[in-house]
Amino acid sequence: MRALVTGGAGFIGSNLADRLLSEGATVRVFDNLSTGFQDNVPADAELFEGDIRDEAAVRAAVTGVDVVFHHAAHRAVLQSVENPLSTDMANTHGTLLVLKAAHDAGVRRVVAASSSSVYGGAEQLPTPESAPLIPRSPYAVSKLAGEHYCRVWSELFGVETAALRYFNVYGPRQRPDSAYAAVIPLFTNALRTGVRPVVHGDGLQSRSFAYVDDVVDANLAAAEAPAGSCSGKAYNIAGSRSYTLLELLHELGEILGVEPAPEHTAPRTGDVRHSSADLSAAARDLGWQPKVTLAEGLRRTVEWFALRSG
Ligand SMILES: NC(=O)c1ccc[n+]([C@@H]2O[C@H](COP(=O)([O-])OP(=O)(O)OC[C@H]3O[C@@H](n4cnc5c(N)ncnc54)[C@H](O)[C@@H]3O)[C@@H](O)[C@H]2O)c1
Repeated sequence: MRALVTGGAGFIGSNLADRLLSEGATVRVFDNLSTGFQDNVPADAELFEGDIRDEAAVRAAVTGVDVVFHHAAHRAVLQSVENPLSTDMANTHGTLLVLKAAHDAGVRRVVAASSSSVYGGAEQLPTPESAPLIPRSPYAVSKLAGEHYCRVWSELFGVETAALRYFNVYGPRQRPDSAYAAVIPLFTNALRTGVRPVVHGDGLQSRSFAYVDDVVDANLAAAEAPAGSCSGKAYNIAGSRSYTLLELLHELGEILGVEPAPEHTAPRTGDVRHSSADLSAAARDLGWQPKVTLAEGLRRTVEWFALRSG
């Protein structure tokens, strides 16, 4: 397979690029290195440094490719609230450019990273893909727009597409030091350095955490599943069950051999109380299900933190 990974210098994209290479694919990475790092790009991948909003650059990157794994995006919800136009340009417009260029270049399939945020806090738990879609941030709107563009390009132009709604992905290369860091790298860093982890609210809110290797598996499955069953659709990609933040802290504490003493602050406005994914559609159409338990995924994540800090 000749693969293009947009956002391939980032957390998820670079893990995917590594796996594609190890499975014999030719890999090109397209990234503007805004939140990604050149060090993440595997040596055997070809790096196209460019912006996903730049049509000529995107056209050059998709030339000669079989499958595009589209991950380049502004991924932070808060950033999208502060700066909605730039999120929309990168995420909505960027996805449209990728689809248009992919169609013109004869790309077989586009697998696009979407997000559980498209549900906006569903009442039905676990949440199936058919639940109401009520995005509650510019980021979530941009991800839903990207999904619709994928479906429309599949229906109108025959570009095979699949969108993957990720729920809280974690694992090696997810950094604790960005302005919009996610909860697992923040908790891991705090517990490793003897700082009290900050928990917004009572910590009984729950999330489904997807280990990055499972997310990579889902991408490979989405690239190969029969178009008749998956093209134009969106799938939940998550861990096998949900955990409260206090349970997450407990698991991390066990691995690191420390007793977490969280500092509770006010709940964050707009935070969803519970989130959990119905994974039956991905199992049925993509033949995918998560394999890595939270304890195992956290163990590997902690190992990466230890290696990184030497
Ligand atoms: N991490 C999660 O929990 C999660 C959850 C839901 C969805 N997603 C989606 O998965 C994808 C990857 O997320 P991630 O967590 O690896 O984030 P990341 O920030 O590590 O990766 C995004 C990559 O895109 C690149 N990029 C950003 N803007 C660009 C632009 N204008 N042109 C070219 N490249 C650009 C960045 O440099 C970075 O390498 C994103 O589409 C994100 O919305 C992630």
